[in-house]
Amino acid sequence: MLVSATEMLKKAREGKYAVGQFNINNLEWTKAVLLTAEEMRSPVILGVSEGAGKYMTGFGTVAAMVKAMIEDLKITVPVALHLDHGSYEGCYKCIKAGFSSIMFDGSHYPIAENVEKTTELVHAAHQLGLSIEAEVGSIGGEEDGVVGMGECADPDECKQIADLGVDMLAAGIGNIHGKYPANWAGLSFETLAAVNEKVGEMPLVLHGGTGIPADMIKKAISLGVAKINVNTECQLSFAAATREYIEAGKDQQGKGFDPRKLLAPGAEAIKATVREKIELFGSANKA
Ligand code: 13P
Repeated sequence: MLVSATEMLKKAREGKYAVGQFNINNLEWTKAVLLTAEEMRSPVILGVSEGAGKYMTGFGTVAAMVKAMIEDLKITVPVALHLDHGSYEGCYKCIKAGFSSIMFDGSHYPIAENVEKTTELVHAAHQLGLSIEAEVGSIGGEEDGVVGMGECADPDECKQIADLGVDMLAAGIGNIHGKYPANWAGLSFETLAAVNEKVGEMPLVLHGGTGIPADMIKKAISLGVAKINVNTECQLSFAAATREYIEAGKDQQGKGFDPRKLLAPGAEAIKATVREKIELFGSANKA
């Protein structure tokens, strides 16, 4: 069932758990995430970055694939198809393509411009029943060529953006995309608590879910985080399982080179990672 993320995140915030956003890259990824969410009776968000959208030939292809797959696989849990770190233009493209949710990442604009563009996009998204995420304080690390310094968000700016009527808010709290460096200082719970205090019941989003220790995840959820984004961890699991298959020479045994066989261990590894995260985030049996 393709839905906006609004209801599932409201429920998650009230129920003190988080819904996972798992970024997708291709058909295998999408299938693995959807089947795991269904098996665990968990709501789920499929994240699509602009780079991944381009790789999959365009947002229209992605939306058509996800909608058809939900039907063909008989997926009954709530699924949101969400643009991840969208540009202003990218948001309009996804609204047109039939996504059910968008993120406008205006964190690199001066706050006045972030407010102005977010206001307009909230209107455009809500008119068609899509949910919208905004961002304040950039997330560290590199994603699709966008490099963030991992600054902590200003709680007053968070309130300003939250008041525009967004459905979820990503606030930088020292989180980073990709693997965390050994000298990472950890999440700033001080910032998170201050943001949470300002924004009331707004579901907060934790980006950079890969490699955050379980205790920090649990604490973040207790402070209002209702959506956690995971991308790199599925890529690492997929790559490791694929490497193992090839290094064991299995692609050279029988018809082991058949893509349905070659990509199967990687797909199973994505499922295992998604399963582990859904358990940790507490969203199993919440569909
Ligand atoms: P990771 O790649 O660190 O899991 O972050 C994902 C993310 O935040 C997508 O927006």
